[in-house]
This record gives sequence, structure tokens and C-alpha cells, in this order.
Amino acid sequence: MNRQRRFETRAVHSGEHRAGANDERDGIFYPISTPIYASTTFSHPDVETTDRVLGGEEVGYSYARYDNPTVRAFEEALVSLEAPKGGQGVRAFAFASGMAATHAALAAAELTGGATALAAEQLYGSTATLLVQVFGANGVQTRFVDAYDLGAVEKKVADLGPRAVVVESISNPLLRVADIRGISEITHAAGAALIVDNTFGTPFLQRPLELGADIVVHSATKYLSGHGDLTAGVVAAGPPYDAALEQLRKLVGGVLGPFEAWLAHRGLKTLPLRMGRQCENAREIAARLDSHPKVAKVNHPSFETHPDYETAGRVLSDTGGLVSFDLAAEGREAAYSFLNALELCVKAPSLGDIYTLAIHPATSSHRELSPSRRERLGVGENLVRLSVGIEHPQDIISDLEQALDRL
Ligand SMILES: Cc1ncc(COP(=O)(O)O)c(C=O)c1O
Repeated sequence: MNRQRRFETRAVHSGEHRAGANDERDGIFYPISTPIYASTTFSHPDVETTDRVLGGEEVGYSYARYDNPTVRAFEEALVSLEAPKGGQGVRAFAFASGMAATHAALAAAELTGGATALAAEQLYGSTATLLVQVFGANGVQTRFVDAYDLGAVEKKVADLGPRAVVVESISNPLLRVADIRGISEITHAAGAALIVDNTFGTPFLQRPLELGADIVVHSATKYLSGHGDLTAGVVAAGPPYDAALEQLRKLVGGVLGPFEAWLAHRGLKTLPLRMGRQCENAREIAARLDSHPKVAKVNHPSFETHPDYETAGRVLSDTGGLVSFDLAAEGREAAYSFLNALELCVKAPSLGDIYTLAIHPATSSHRELSPSRRERLGVGENLVRLSVGIEHPQDIISDLEQALDRL
């Protein structure tokens, strides 16, 4: 696949191995969509070939925990989107969930006993807990920083000498936008690795490896697959991290099954269409909510008043599919009444689906945090987050307005 083709074209075709013009084989047919290879093991014409495949001297498949053609097709497609310029040997590895992928990314960055990780204080709660509890039990110290303040990152990196810095391209739920290029310069000057969770950004909005990140991780449960029907994760990185990731996946074994890989790859083909529409819808919805008398404040990177408006213009190609807002009415009751009054938007956690999803962050994504920490992060009781879908924007707006009117 010619990697220089445009994003939309690569999304549709990458990872598929079809008959080429110079293919001399006869009597073999090629499906246009990689099938689901539901096979735990793979045979070869002779054991010498098996030996070469197992030794990595010949491309092939031997055992499904090591590799599977359906899974590899999804991984190749992801590489073509995250590292279109060939990315100096970037490879992707799919995992059974975003958390399994995150665990592998952190371990591949050699976060072992005595090492320090510097993490964004706005990080997804489970990632923070994984660092503190699981890596912490093995002697890794995790310190937190406001990752959207470059000066603060620079100071903490200088003070702590971390082995890895862990940030998200866009934060949840206030949609802060990280200056990945700036953070990568600080991180590399200190000899550390930069891990970016690009779940909210997707390669449609940003390719962190091109901005200097060393490892990119996704919950493919979200935008990459996009239909709310599977759990998956994926990590992309070049040397030396790719070899560590391959080894970790083989040994820890949190592999993605071929059925989910097929669905994820199918979803990836429409990522640009879905994300384009979700960004447009989110911008329109954010603007309409902003002028509504029952809404106190809207968080969206398309607003000039957003603290990262200028950064977003530099590091993102569009402003994303999420919107969050404070209701004018105070307290949890108002947020619950609003959410319960929604008729079209689906009241459910997760994000990135074709359906518009609405949540109350204080009691869902941020429920494990103490009220004071939530307050410090700006996650109030009257905050609502929308993951905007691909429905007609007017239908979503009408639903939001009728729910606001009933407050
Ligand atoms: C930013 C981010 N990273 C990682 C994860 C974990 O992904 P998964 O639920 O697929 O394990 C999530 C889940 O919500 C997330 O929002």
C-alpha cells in the first residue's frame, strides 16, 4: 500500500492484501476484505519453514497469541494512519482492551523499580490508578503535573528526572489540548520517553509520533472502531519500543481476538467520515449550547475563550467530537434531571461511538476521585459531557434543548 496516499484512502485500503498486477500465482483467489482467521495455530509445508517463521527469519504465522492475519491487518492499517511516512520502523500491536494496551506501553517504556513516571493530572482515572497501584507495587513512583502548562512540565521533568512522561492528546472532560511537540522536546532533552494516549484525538486529528512522541496508545473501543460494539486497544511505536511490545504481548498474552480485530479494522475504514461529521456536529452543538440561558459554560477547543485554543490550532487538524458544559442550575440533581430528560442522546459511559452519548463525569468517569480533587480539576456536579455522534445535528440540538427547557 502506497503510504503517500491520502488519509481517507489509506483508512479504506490499508491492511488488505489483495492480488497485485505482478502477482504470478495462479488459481488463488483473494478476498477484498481480510477474513476472520479463527485459527489458534498455522501449519507450513515443512518444519523448516515453521522454524524460520518462529525464528522471525520468514514472514508468517505460527500461533495466535504471537500473531494472527486478521489482527495484523488491523495493526497495519493503524500504522498507515498513525505513521504515514513510514515512521522509522513503527509497528502496531493490538490488545484485548485499551487498558491492556496502556499497561504494555508503560512496561515497554521500562517503568520498573526505582523509575519515576510523570503523568498528567488530568489522565484517565484507570491509567492513573494503574500507574500508582500496579506499577507502584513494583517500585515505580508516579508524580503528577498539569500537562497543559508547559512551564510546569519543564520544571517537574527537571526536578524528577522521570523515565517516562504520560499524557493524553485531549483531556477528559474539559477537553484540554496538550502541546505534544513542546512536551516531547522537554521530555527528550531529559532522556525520557513520551507516551501519548491518543484515544480522544485519533490519527484523524493528530499523529503524536510525528510530533515527537515515542509511543502512542489507543482505546480502540472508542473512535477507532466507532460503533460501541467491541473492546480493544492498540499501541504504535518504533524501535526500541516495538520489540519490547511484541515480547510483552507474547508473554503477558492480552491479545485481541480475530473477531474483534475484524470489527475494529472495519470500523477504522470509516474513521475519517465519522470523525469529520462528529467534529462538525460538536462545533455546532457547542455554539448552540453556549447561547442557551440554562447553560453556564461550554468547554470546546473551537472557542477562542478555551485555554488551549491556540495550541489546538497548532497541533490538531480539527477540534474533536466531545463537548462538555456546566448547567446554570447548580448541583447533581439538575444534572440528573437534564440527563434523565434526554430522549435521543444515549445516557451511557464511553465515547467515540456513532451515537451521541451523554454522561455525568462526577459520578461516572471521575467518581473514584475525592470531591476536592474533582473540584480542582474543574469537574463540578453540574458538568455534563457529550460524545457527539453522527446523527443530524439539529436532532441532537432539539433533544438537548427540550431537556434544558424541562429543567
Ligand atoms: C483516554 C482513555 N484511555 C484508555 C481507556 C481504557 O480503554 P478500555 O476501556 O478500552 O480498556 C479509556 C476508557 O475510557 C480512555 O478514555
